Amino acid sequence: MKLSPLQIARYDYNPKLPGMLRNGIADICVKEGADTQSVADQEKIAALFPNTYGKKEITFEKGANTSEQKKQVVGVILSGGQAPGGHNVVSGLYDALKATNKENVLIGFKGGPSGLIEDDYIIIEDEFMDQYRNTGGFDIIGSGRTKLETEEQFAIVTEVCKKHGVTAIVIIGGDDSNTNAAVLAEYMAAHNTGVQVIGCPKTIDGDLKNEDIEISFGFDTATKTYSELIGNIERDCNSSKKYWHFVKVMGRSASHVALECALETQANICLIGEEVAAKKQSLSEIAEYITDAIATRGNNGMNFGVAIIPEGIVEFVPEFSTLIAEINELLAGEKTEAFNALPSWEEKNAFIEAGLTAESMAVFAILPQLIQQQLFLERDPHGNVQVSLIESEKLFVELVKVKLAERKAAGTYTGKCGFLTHFFGYEGRCAFPSNFDADYCYSLGYNAFMLIQYGYTGYLSKVSNLSAPAEEWVAGGMPITKMMNIERRNGKDKPVIRKALVELDGAPFKFFDANRATWAVETCFTYPGAIQYYGPSSVCDITTRTLALEHNK
Ligand code: FBP
Repeated sequence: MKLSPLQIARYDYNPKLPGMLRNGIADICVKEGADTQSVADQEKIAALFPNTYGKKEITFEKGANTSEQKKQVVGVILSGGQAPGGHNVVSGLYDALKATNKENVLIGFKGGPSGLIEDDYIIIEDEFMDQYRNTGGFDIIGSGRTKLETEEQFAIVTEVCKKHGVTAIVIIGGDDSNTNAAVLAEYMAAHNTGVQVIGCPKTIDGDLKNEDIEISFGFDTATKTYSELIGNIERDCNSSKKYWHFVKVMGRSASHVALECALETQANICLIGEEVAAKKQSLSEIAEYITDAIATRGNNGMNFGVAIIPEGIVEFVPEFSTLIAEINELLAGEKTEAFNALPSWEEKNAFIEAGLTAESMAVFAILPQLIQQQLFLERDPHGNVQVSLIESEKLFVELVKVKLAERKAAGTYTGKCGFLTHFFGYEGRCAFPSNFDADYCYSLGYNAFMLIQYGYTGYLSKVSNLSAPAEEWVAGGMPITKMMNIERRNGKDKPVIRKALVELDGAPFKFFDANRATWAVETCFTYPGAIQYYGPSSVCDITTRTLALEHNK
């Protein structure tokens, strides 16, 4: 493989650890804090996790290492969507494991959780590990979305662990994967397998956070990558002065990514799904809001701008969710075949019109034909509409064009602009991790091994105080059950880690809300530029605006 100059340079980067982990393995001791309780539904969660519930909060400190000296064989998996920094979680884990005992072994199970079930693995050693230090991607061992959740799967995992003498498994994943890590930890404890399970918080979406986990890894780099691109687009449209750009950004459901990009770039418009749901806004109301900004700017001679649209926006629009539910019902089971057999779009349209309620038909009717067709083409294996594949950036352009034409006819809009659409998602998931993500991820991995070494299970590796310099970060662990509540999933009550949506009374949204009216009609663009890996700490090491606002910085 031909290496880029940056990749070669990044191999020499030494990720920063929290101060208390910097003195060598022999000098890390553990301090146990208070017993914990789940965030809600305490009795139910305690009953479901009799062996792992209520354990103590853990912090590491400088002091003599008192852990039991035994050979560790650790299995690691990467789970779900890629997020910058995954390789550094592995390298931090590897370095702590080898520094503790050269005989310790790290097994990378390949392709995500399925690697553990299929016993598809690689033993990670120095030369192999070194190729991946401080690089983006999950290609070291690959990732996957198989869920580890059934007793049958756990029994197979137990056999695989027995075969390799695995003493602990580290699961690097999002809220679902870490929920499953907690269930697996409980199973392993209940069956006296001696296998510990530790999780690490990953996802660019930023929705795995709570009072213990300040940020999931990857969010910093992904949002910086998107913000760089959005800033570049802002500068382009401020130069040519003839285009409005509608930019959809990833983040399956929650709007944290969109909000962070708006705070970084001060784009004219940013939609926040959680607000749309709270205000029960319709598609037409949202389009009207965007149109107001375009018309005001156009009438003032500014025929350009940028609108940021979160990936999950349409799911938050109540009337749209109802429409989707009706379509799913309309095409359930064998009705799909009857629908697919209709020869023309006109006949399909008539079938839809006959099956939808008048309210949903009214919503369906205002959608551009491209989107109407997407609702029927892209269906999952259960026949459901795949909302994430709907091109909402194009949808809003079309809705806005209609409204602008009406205003032009009424003489209330005198401007003229072109529209361009973008989707930024995969571009950000495998970027070279920012210094923040490189340091944070290495610390999470290092810390995960310390939790293993001290005998903990069912814990999430926790590094906090992240808006301070790395020296002041605090390393420790939190029982995963503390983050759980009971939610209804697929018709069943299940213990899950609560997903964090954008809080409308939180500091990041409030800051955005206080400024957005100005950003909408004036040109207040901020150009973040590319991620910097070398240079002053004030440029290279700073983390997100979201984190800074949440921690009053
Ligand atoms: P995770 O929740 O697994 O971290 O993945 C997040 C994400 O990147 C979303 O932002 C996006 O909607 C989704 O994955 C895309 O999934 P896929 O990689 O399967 O296309």
